[in-house]
Amino acid sequence: MPALVLLGAQWGDEGKGKATDLLGGSVDYVVRYQGGNNAGHTVVVGDQKYALHLLPSGILSPGCTPVIGNGVVVDPSVLFSELNGLNERGVDTSKLLISGNAHIITPYNVTVDKVTERFLGKRKIGTTGRGIGPTYADKINRVGIRVQDLYDESILTQKVEAALDGKNQLLTKVFNRRAIETGQVVEELLTYAEKLRPYVADTVLVLNKALDDDKVVLFEGGQGTLLDIDHGTYPFVTSSNPTAGGACTGSGVGPTKISRVIGILKAYTTRVGAGPFPTELFDEDGEALRRIGHERGVTTGRDRRCGWFDAVIARYATRVNGLTDFFLTKLDVLTGWEQIPVCVAYEIDGKRVEELPYSQSDFHHAKPIYETLPGWSEDITKAKTFADLPKNAQAYVKALEEMSGAPISAIGVGPGRTETIEVNSFI
Ligand code: GDP
Ligand code: IMO
Ligand code: MG
Repeated sequence: MPALVLLGAQWGDEGKGKATDLLGGSVDYVVRYQGGNNAGHTVVVGDQKYALHLLPSGILSPGCTPVIGNGVVVDPSVLFSELNGLNERGVDTSKLLISGNAHIITPYNVTVDKVTERFLGKRKIGTTGRGIGPTYADKINRVGIRVQDLYDESILTQKVEAALDGKNQLLTKVFNRRAIETGQVVEELLTYAEKLRPYVADTVLVLNKALDDDKVVLFEGGQGTLLDIDHGTYPFVTSSNPTAGGACTGSGVGPTKISRVIGILKAYTTRVGAGPFPTELFDEDGEALRRIGHERGVTTGRDRRCGWFDAVIARYATRVNGLTDFFLTKLDVLTGWEQIPVCVAYEIDGKRVEELPYSQSDFHHAKPIYETLPGWSEDITKAKTFADLPKNAQAYVKALEEMSGAPISAIGVGPGRTETIEVNSFI
């Protein structure tokens, strides 16, 4: 039975946390499959606001088992501070499962992330500084530390030694930093071993058995399609695969089990960090989107870059993810604009281009070609059905759907769990 993937269709911060939380009541498992605490997912339940970084948003739904899959990178200190924060607010986190194959973000990887960015100077990526890239690099270089390594001190010591061998050369000779001692790192990592033990499980087996038993499993992406290491705006990307295929490799569930892939799509566009962004606005409209949409990073507190909706990107997300549906968020933020421009194609070297160019240089100087749609001024935050929306808001949604290549099955009209119009049911 159904495995659903819910992922970001743009550059992250589309409202994945809210969408996962909304479905959380009807699903049995919510699985994070990639990324780590670079994510910042805001969930508003009644008058309570939660900011989750590493934990799946399903942790807020009683009855749902949250799972951190093998594709995630785990910073144990962040994990425990997030768990403690939720426990203090009365949230039961005891059902959490963590894959023994998930890689650990070690303190030296956080250091390497920060010094690398500093070293890149104005060419920096603008990472979240959480050690994500270096941890995935260690994984691919086969010198990573996995959760299961914490349960064999001798193996752990050998692995940390192997990882630090090259890194200490780099830190001392290139970055002019002090070398990191194996013993110190091992000691720190071992302090987490027993605390982690109750959560560690063979999550591949658990999830596949659950699907055999007709349970509903929801995969929650971090980041977004354009931040994907393979399909995003490389090198201005994160170091994992937020796209749909990542849900399979990052959890050990085969693609034949996935029944639906839902792209979370903001009614306009935002981006955090460096990299190309054709519809970015540098005027008062951009400022207004940032202010009205509260577009400030949940993880790093950086202002998000803001721009109009880009249908070229949405079509691309439909293609690379095989999207079956969109969940359109933050439509309410656009209330009050008389006219709303939407990017329908790019102009590159004087030519009209309908699809995302594969060439990085072309994308860097793509100019948006806009169509302007009429806006609305009525408050839409209380709308419960599509028919409750003003005619122009309906037309805006329909136009986006037409341009983006998949049905819009839900519409967010406010940050709260209930501020959502469900057009087609997901489960
Ligand atoms: P995520 O990283 O994709 O989970 O998204 P973030 O939580 O970083 O950013 C999305 C923000 O938009 C959060 O503050 C949400 O509470 C908020 N949000 C989500 N959906 C809606 C919506 O439909 N309307 C409004 N006004 N805010 C929303
Ligand atoms: P959620 O899940 C928006 C961006 C960073 C940087 C690039 C690489 O909340 O949508 P990294 O630390 O991952 O190596 O940084 O990716 N980035 C995000 N931008 N939302 C996120 O997560 C992001 N996670 C990483 O700003 O440009
Ligand atoms: Mg976010």
